[in-house]
Amino acid sequence: MNHPFQKALFFMAVAACCAPALAVDVEAAKSLVRRNSCLKCHDVGRDATPFKKIAERYRGDAKAEDKLINHLTSSPEVTYLDGKTKEEHNIAKTVPPKDEAQLRNLVQWVLSN
Ligand code: HEC
Repeated sequence: MNHPFQKALFFMAVAACCAPALAVDVEAAKSLVRRNSCLKCHDVGRDATPFKKIAERYRGDAKAEDKLINHLTSSPEVTYLDGKTKEEHNIAKTVPPKDEAQLRNLVQWVLSN
């Protein structure tokens, strides 16, 4: 493949085939966040860390996705930003329940904030 035009065709074909599979489905993630009222707590001035800051917390952590999926499926005890109130974290509700693909997409979106 030495001809520049051939190369361009090749890269266009790769982009067309593979890009959507890799990209985060932002709309699906946001819709899940809305249905679970995540932003009731995870927003500036609320009880929990905004997603942007959580993304910073996990920057460079290769296991971040799995850790957060675990977080969203196992109701661990969390402490509010007031440092006092403790509560079991909500399980992220998907239809069907604990749907791995939807959870992974949600977590990838959180980490891309
Ligand atoms: C009732 C309040 C509340 C709701 C609703 C809530 N969270 Fe949380 N979440 C917390 C608190 C409190 C913490 C722990 C303190 C922190 O990390 O800010 C936490 C922590 C997290 C963390 C960080 C975990 C870690 O180990 O660093 C993630 C990611 C997260 N929540 C995602 C979500 C998602 C996604 C939703 C919606 C499906 C959600 N949360 C709904 C209160 C809430």
